[in-house]
Amino acid sequence: MKSSAAVTPLPPLQIGAYTLPVPIIQGGMGIRVSAHRLASAVANAGGVGIIATVALSLASKYYNKGKDYFRANMQALADELNWARDNSPTGIIGTNCMVAIRDFEAMVRTSVEHGAQMIISGAGLPLRLPEFAAANPETALLPIVSSLRAATIIAKRWYQQYKRLPDAIVFEDPNTAGGHLGATRQQLFGEEYAMQRVVPQLAEWARKSYNDDIPIIAAGGIWDRQDIDRVFALGARGVQMASRFICTYECDADEQFKQAFINAAEGDVVIIDSPAGLPGRALSSEFTRKLFRGNEVASKCFATCLSHCRCRDAEETFCIAEALHHAQQGDLSRGLIFTGTNAIRHNKIVHVHEIFAEINGPHD
Ligand SMILES: Cc1cc2nc3c(=O)[nH]c(=O)nc-3n(C[C@H](O)[C@H](O)[C@H](O)COP(=O)(O)O)c2cc1C
Repeated sequence: MKSSAAVTPLPPLQIGAYTLPVPIIQGGMGIRVSAHRLASAVANAGGVGIIATVALSLASKYYNKGKDYFRANMQALADELNWARDNSPTGIIGTNCMVAIRDFEAMVRTSVEHGAQMIISGAGLPLRLPEFAAANPETALLPIVSSLRAATIIAKRWYQQYKRLPDAIVFEDPNTAGGHLGATRQQLFGEEYAMQRVVPQLAEWARKSYNDDIPIIAAGGIWDRQDIDRVFALGARGVQMASRFICTYECDADEQFKQAFINAAEGDVVIIDSPAGLPGRALSSEFTRKLFRGNEVASKCFATCLSHCRCRDAEETFCIAEALHHAQQGDLSRGLIFTGTNAIRHNKIVHVHEIFAEINGPHD
């Protein structure tokens, strides 16, 4: 890791009621790759720590073999938010709530009730997010989009229906980001959704239509200060980074999960078809090799977590909640490891504060 001595700090960023000392948001990583430990470490380093809310209950005391899965998720989320706050009394802590999940509304309401200061929401258009988060108007709301069109639809609808605008917009580049991607397989790797095309479009829209009151946050493939300077030059005012935080002591996944990144080599990042109907970016593993051979990873839906699911509805493919849960627990023969394109840049486990120091200089 480079010395932090010569680094000029990035400008702080205002998002709604909150001033981010460092304009870095840690991307939500389900299932329990980003829970309270990672989120609080990022918040303590001056960024925004994000707990991914999807299927939080699976390793909790509340989950009882499929019974009360949705209630257990709410209880587990309340715990994670409380623990994160205990670890970081003054940092900014938020949650990631996916529209495609059946308990999206419950996850948003529980987040607000238990003090989430930001909610970041994608995997579909979060058109009703302000309604579900209405109990605390100070909770900042950030939709994730992959196009200007999606941002326009959300901003118009929120204003018409709720007299509210997004506090910031996260643009996630499907060509580089990890997890479920906001483009079809055919659209992947094209120009249409590329960072260098969409971020300037969004920045111009925010300036012309909203007097620069909606900061654009760039996500996907961001690793170091050079990447951040590059997207700031395109018009972004903050970044969301996920994969970079996986190989940290504080990341909530098992050691085996982290080791898989350290062992990854060129060509080990693959695209899978998720039962959610979207492509997903993952690390090559025993699981993905079985998946590509066909019919070797069949498993039964046990939680009915997704609104649309080819595993539950058509008994095709695999249960993604189960596969992501196994990976987080370190069972890599049955586990699906999501990652962005930067997976192979990991070579050791570090502390979150070291990543911040490298990018932004030391934080008091
Ligand atoms: C392991 C993993 C899990 C993820 N889970 C989620 C999730 O639950 N919800 C979500 O909106 N995005 C999820 N993402 C996407 C990230 O939040 C982030 O926007 C994206 O990966 C940014 O690209 P980067 O990983 O190259 O920094 C996930 C990404 C990874 C690597």
